Amino acid sequence: MRMGSIRMRATLAAGFVGSFTLQLWAQVAPPATPARNPVTGDPKAITQGAVLFRQECVFCHGFGARGGVRGPDLTTGSWSHGGSDAELADTIKDGVAGTAMPPNNLTIDEIWQIVAYLRTLEQPMTPTAGDPKRGEALFFGAARCSTCHIVNGRGGLLGPELSTVGSARSRAYLIESVREPGRQLTRNRAFGDLTLKYDAVTAVTADGRTIVGVPMNEDTFTVQLMDTSERVHSLDKKTLKSLRHENRSLMPAYGADRLGNADLDDVIAYLQSLRAPTPVRKRGSSHEDQ
Ligand code: HEC
Ligand code: HEC
Repeated sequence: MRMGSIRMRATLAAGFVGSFTLQLWAQVAPPATPARNPVTGDPKAITQGAVLFRQECVFCHGFGARGGVRGPDLTTGSWSHGGSDAELADTIKDGVAGTAMPPNNLTIDEIWQIVAYLRTLEQPMTPTAGDPKRGEALFFGAARCSTCHIVNGRGGLLGPELSTVGSARSRAYLIESVREPGRQLTRNRAFGDLTLKYDAVTAVTADGRTIVGVPMNEDTFTVQLMDTSERVHSLDKKTLKSLRHENRSLMPAYGADRLGNADLDDVIAYLQSLRAPTPVRKRGSSHEDQ
């Protein structure tokens, strides 16, 4: 597997050099970045890298780079944009277009310090990292995840879309989301209101009907709920008997009885494979998939 991806990268690199060298590199002529980090293992550089990481990166990648709500775990030893020193330096400098990962104005020395720091955190993926193909079959089949979640245009509407969740979330967060959905409720950004989250709302209408759903929109006078059969209710708060927000998820907790550990690994491997389209990094290869 490792060999395969190295070979693929080599092929892509060869294609790149072959077809684009002239147009691109001739014009831009970037200062040659050394292929290897000159400060790997240097304790001073590592400390400095940790400080920079805390200033510039923790906000998204979390403490110890273990993943946060906005950026992935950087300690798994598995890199979707390449794990060589030079590739990491490029990702940090240029960002990942089309995602929240921003380009940076750090100097190359600072970038090498951060890379040296990240290398000290890197842990290999757990050996039983799961089979994403089986995970996909479970997601759309027996585990019924797709009854509430859309992935690439297929699935239900009650829960958040998961088409790029692997880029946005750490592995630990994904596992927690499945085993204990209520721990950190996802924010609902669909309407740009950052205070709205996918909590459980129960409304009792004047004629005594009880509606349970997730909030889609809410202001002082009205609330819009989507119930578990995806019906949308626009309710006038004045006319309701009661309206209650509860800090719990309408997603059922998938304990080990419902989804065994091996199945969980497969489902998580599938979720981790759902990434923002990899930008065609200054090159025209039609399908970069790693
Ligand atoms: C605003 C949020 C944000 C900030 C700030 C940020 N990142 Fe990221 N970063 C992301 C996201 C989101 C991704 C995933 C991009 C994707 O979909 O592939 C990412 C991806 C990466 C990757 C590629 C991971 C891989 O698997 O190849 C590296 C390396 C990285 N970030 C390092 C850093 C470093 C170092 C800093 C600080 C200098 C930083 N990031 C700052 C959000 C952020
Ligand atoms: C009955 C509907 C329902 C089912 C079935 C369901 N979910 Fe969810 N899911 C939700 C809702 C609602 C949320 C948002 C509230 C929360 O954070 O738990 C959510 C949140 C999530 C999140 C967090 C997303 C993020 O970006 O924060 C993940 C990951 C997730 N679900 C995965 C799954 C997987 C995998 C399955 C199947 C094993 C599944 N869900 C089954 C309704 C559902």
